[in-house]
Amino acid sequence: MANVFSVPRFVISGENSLKLGMDYLNAMGTKALIVTDKAMVDLGNVKKLTDEMDAKNVSYYVYGEINTEPTHSMVDKGVDLYKSEGCDFLIGIGGGSPLDAMKAIGAVYANGGSICDYMGKKIEKGLPCMCAIPTTAGTGSEATKVSIITNTNTDVKMLLNDPKLMVDYAILEPDFTLTVPPSVTAATGVDALTHALEAYTSIKAFALSDLFAVSAIKKIFDNLYSVYTNGNNHAARRDMAIAAFEAGVAFTNASVTIVHGMSRPIGALFHVPHGMSNAMLLKVCLNFLKPAAIEKLCELAKVIGTYRVGMTVEEGADSFVAATYALLRALNINTPMDYNINKEEFFKQIPKMAEDAMISGSPLNTRRTPTKEDLMELYAKFWYEGEVEHANRTEKA
Ligand SMILES: NC(=O)c1ccc[n+]([C@@H]2O[C@H](COP(=O)([O-])OP(=O)(O)OC[C@H]3O[C@@H](n4cnc5c(N)ncnc54)[C@H](O)[C@@H]3O)[C@@H](O)[C@H]2O)c1
Ligand SMILES: [Fe+2]
Repeated sequence: MANVFSVPRFVISGENSLKLGMDYLNAMGTKALIVTDKAMVDLGNVKKLTDEMDAKNVSYYVYGEINTEPTHSMVDKGVDLYKSEGCDFLIGIGGGSPLDAMKAIGAVYANGGSICDYMGKKIEKGLPCMCAIPTTAGTGSEATKVSIITNTNTDVKMLLNDPKLMVDYAILEPDFTLTVPPSVTAATGVDALTHALEAYTSIKAFALSDLFAVSAIKKIFDNLYSVYTNGNNHAARRDMAIAAFEAGVAFTNASVTIVHGMSRPIGALFHVPHGMSNAMLLKVCLNFLKPAAIEKLCELAKVIGTYRVGMTVEEGADSFVAATYALLRALNINTPMDYNINKEEFFKQIPKMAEDAMISGSPLNTRRTPTKEDLMELYAKFWYEGEVEHANRTEKA
């Protein structure tokens, strides 16, 4: 079967990427709308960018109001600003939230209407030039044809997926990730791990997507715990920035599957950060997937070094699953109880969450095809396993 493989036009990576990337500014346009969040402004990251832009005489307007989980109203405001400020290109700097908001602003500016009408539709007209500068090592939005925006009228995290959402320039400046706090480092790192793992086990996986997925998984197992315990480990931060990009490339070409499908509704309804809800779901979903992905999981055991000579394929797969659980435990992944989610409300929403997950299409890319009933069962398991974990922690404390 033939496959299309997409990546951004230019990828600038390694130390001092920001400086090198700025050599391309004049090719991007004359005035940028910089889409970002307050933390990026307060941390001085936006200033580092605008200082470089000032030096090149390229104008900009800073739109720094994107919160985690960007909404359709934030996109509307961005489009208004893009027009009123006379901008002709876009720069997104921050985690996945500002990067996704930037893409949605570009889409609505070029195609009109409301972003709420874009879910499941093809984007017709080309977007302005876009440059993504990720500051978390997680979403891989800088490498994907995806933007995720919450429609607050319906409480749905809309998955927009179109080749026109791929950026022109991705600048992977690892220094920006040095300030990410441990819990965000863990959540975003597990998001990247989930992208790679889901891409590798997706029914749409192919040779090139596997190449990127495997490389990302190896780097994440080698470095995530190090950056979680020592945020200043430059070499590990650099490898994680590359891993997140690779994982993004893998999943945008081979798709995510059940974890992401189930994670978006939890984010939309209960406001659990994307990486954290993925991390919590990974455990139950990996168990569901395992019978249909034994060979592939055994291959991953060889990649991360848990496979031992003489093991059966199943034992190899088990060793990979066990290593993943151990990593999640070491990263102190939260439980649903940490977000004060009401149990009754959670169970009441399970049918809607399962329905929304199925509609997104992602679960159907899983090697073991789930039904809506399977998803409902997995949501319940997610809750009960969280309760056990929470009780264990409370007992230890
Ligand atoms: N487009 C895609 O392909 C794709 C893939 C996965 C997830 N997503 C979406 O991305 C969003 C999540 O992105 P995210 O996990 O990167 O989180 P985020 O952008 O919401 O950022 C999380 C927090 O970390 C802070 N932060 C970011 N960089 C920092 C830095 N360098 N130092 C200190 N603090 C920093 C932010 O200010 C914010 O408070 C979700 O909406 C999710 O659905 C998109
Ligand atoms: Fe993700």
